[in-house]
Amino acid sequence: WSYGRSSPVYPSPTGAGTGKWTEAYSKARAMVSKMTNDEKATVVVGVSASNGCSGNSGAVDRIGFPGLCLQDGPSGVRGADFVSAFPSGVHIGASWNSTLANSVGTFMGAEFKKKGVNVALGPVVGPLGRIARGGRNWEGFSADPFLAGRLAGETVIGLQKSVIASVKHFIANEQEKDRNPALPVIASWSNSVSSNIDDRSMHELYLWPFQDAVKAGAGSVMCSYNRVNNSYACQNSKTLNGLLKTELGFQGFVVSDWYALHSGVASAAAGMDLVMPDASLWKGLNQAVQNGSLPEARLDDMAMRIIAAWYLLGQDAGSYPQKGVGMASSMTSPHKIVNAVDPASKPTVLQAAIEGHVLVKNVQNALPLKKPAMLSLFGYDATIPLVNNPSSLSLSRWASGFASTGISDAQLLLLMATGVTTPPGAATAGTIISGGGSGANTGLYISAPYDAFQQQAYEDSTYLHWDFQSSNPNINPASDACIVFINELAFESADRPGLADPGSDKLVSNVARSCKNTMVVIHNAGIRLVDNWIDNPNITAVIYAHLPGQDSGRALVEIMYGRQSPSGRLPYTVAKKENDYGDLLAPSQSNTGTDPQSNFKEGLEIDYRAFIAKNITPRYEFGYGLTYTKFDYSSMAVALFSSVIANISMTYLPPPSPIESGGMTSLFETIASADCRITNSGQVSAAEVAQLYLGIPNAPLKQLRGFRKKILQPGTTENFHFDLTRRDMSIWSTVDQNWVLQKGDYKIYIGASVSDIRLRGNLTINN
Ligand code: NOJ
Repeated sequence: WSYGRSSPVYPSPTGAGTGKWTEAYSKARAMVSKMTNDEKATVVVGVSASNGCSGNSGAVDRIGFPGLCLQDGPSGVRGADFVSAFPSGVHIGASWNSTLANSVGTFMGAEFKKKGVNVALGPVVGPLGRIARGGRNWEGFSADPFLAGRLAGETVIGLQKSVIASVKHFIANEQEKDRNPALPVIASWSNSVSSNIDDRSMHELYLWPFQDAVKAGAGSVMCSYNRVNNSYACQNSKTLNGLLKTELGFQGFVVSDWYALHSGVASAAAGMDLVMPDASLWKGLNQAVQNGSLPEARLDDMAMRIIAAWYLLGQDAGSYPQKGVGMASSMTSPHKIVNAVDPASKPTVLQAAIEGHVLVKNVQNALPLKKPAMLSLFGYDATIPLVNNPSSLSLSRWASGFASTGISDAQLLLLMATGVTTPPGAATAGTIISGGGSGANTGLYISAPYDAFQQQAYEDSTYLHWDFQSSNPNINPASDACIVFINELAFESADRPGLADPGSDKLVSNVARSCKNTMVVIHNAGIRLVDNWIDNPNITAVIYAHLPGQDSGRALVEIMYGRQSPSGRLPYTVAKKENDYGDLLAPSQSNTGTDPQSNFKEGLEIDYRAFIAKNITPRYEFGYGLTYTKFDYSSMAVALFSSVIANISMTYLPPPSPIESGGMTSLFETIASADCRITNSGQVSAAEVAQLYLGIPNAPLKQLRGFRKKILQPGTTENFHFDLTRRDMSIWSTVDQNWVLQKGDYKIYIGASVSDIRLRGNLTINN
């Protein structure tokens, strides 16, 4: 493995057809054996169809393979009516709730299925969030691989009760800048950015959450636009044949991101299985087999992997909804109506929206609100957008006021950069419930903050005053509180111009100048800095409201009125100023002509690992979030299961163990555990998120390796238990090309955030 150069790994491993895949593979084998090479070559390429699916794979009707409908993803069915807008990835990340991630995945998967979708394009674990301004960080869960991996695994389990999950984007897809400049096919002026990564960081950061998703059974993985060590991610034999199909034992199929393919047989040989959205460079795959430039066994394996995933999910059954049955190329033309929403999903959609809110400032219990006599509401983000754009682009919603001016995305970015947050002459741009691009969808409705506060005002007979237009609104001095709603938008295909827009900051400061009890609610599609006003004594409460999906306002009111205590925690680090992110603030620029390079030279030190290494105090650290109660931690106990790791006399490699989906099984054995007790010593019921950080020898000082979320009634105490697996305690050895458990002292920290450590312990591995 050498930095910036991708080593060759050939031939492409044949899908093993073991474990849960056994039956699916034997059925797929029988089907593929009946196909001609022409037919196999049809299965592995996309076909254009105006059926409303983001993509369709080829069909072989003669043998009864109808092809697959692939649809975005990842937070609800895109481009469809009668579906739910679930919270975005970052919102689920902020919930730190794996059970909730599972049930969101379950209800979401069922909607995809009812619509006749075969493959849900999600969840997202790449980008991980290396770059603070990354345009798509919000689609994924967290900048920490352990948190992202847990939640992705649970999401996959939920989704795959109904459909094939396609985990994306594999791999090191950390910036939008130069992501795929040569649409659609051959580089005319530039290559995609090359993410240059060392072997160890690849394993311990970027591959980690993909491993969890594969372990959870993901039937598909989407390869990304970027290059990895100078080889395109969709034709990179090291990452596809090597990491994914050998090391992680992946048995499903690799689908290209849309127009991410840049070669013919080379990509097939490197491990790509299905090209989207059309045949483009794979038109002649059958001839390639005929003339010997692609082994027939590879083409068989490609078709096998796709068809096996289809069988794995039981999509061959007559009872499976007909392909694309509820999808439509246009929702404003006549189309078949398929209502995919299960009313039983309501509590989950709401609870997921609630738990992704993170309260970071709350001076003298300003929150929760208690039947205020007068509330004043300000900011462009409080109301519904004027148009619920059926093309599902949140950007258009945000910019609905701009739309008539025909302004381009690039111009919009420029406007954002200069701090313009409301369109000239427009009343309001509206709230955001997701970021923009392929990850946005249109749910049943949008509960905007304003609507929910109106409803609450009715209940409490509160007098509501509002002004969503002025940047310097007049304040009624009788206001019990002034709530300012702002947002921080991000969308696919561009990175963000900054981490705080001046227009919104000005609005906040203007309100706070005249209102002694100013509360700020930020719908943020990524890290949002607050230092321009956070120390203002008139600002008494701040909530990162993230991207809650359709129940946004309803969820916010639950928290602000104290019907639930906030239980979200930051899944990333909020700095005091942009420079604190150093080289990881902004994307690498294409200053190398047609060959843009992004060197991941920080290695393992991204997000909180970097802040700790550089000794920079953040504004709000990773894992931070306030509640309406108080938790006391006590009685830590740690245990090492020495029977599992007996006879260590040297650096300890895992015993050879079968490679199943997810990699060597021995990596997932529990080899140690930790317990502690937590008491709710406050007045109200609330959930605590206890976090376990490990200090592994020769590794970053603290790394998240466990978290537990539990609701505690006031005055009660519960045990919180953490299991540590061999992988959790190991480092990737570039010499051994394996995970190794080292001899030495392991520090164990349990606390309420990465900085707020309440309990410390130690484990020693010696011989
Ligand atoms: C490109 C995006 O990168 C990917 O996430 C999405 O699934 C496809 N387009 C299909 O819409």
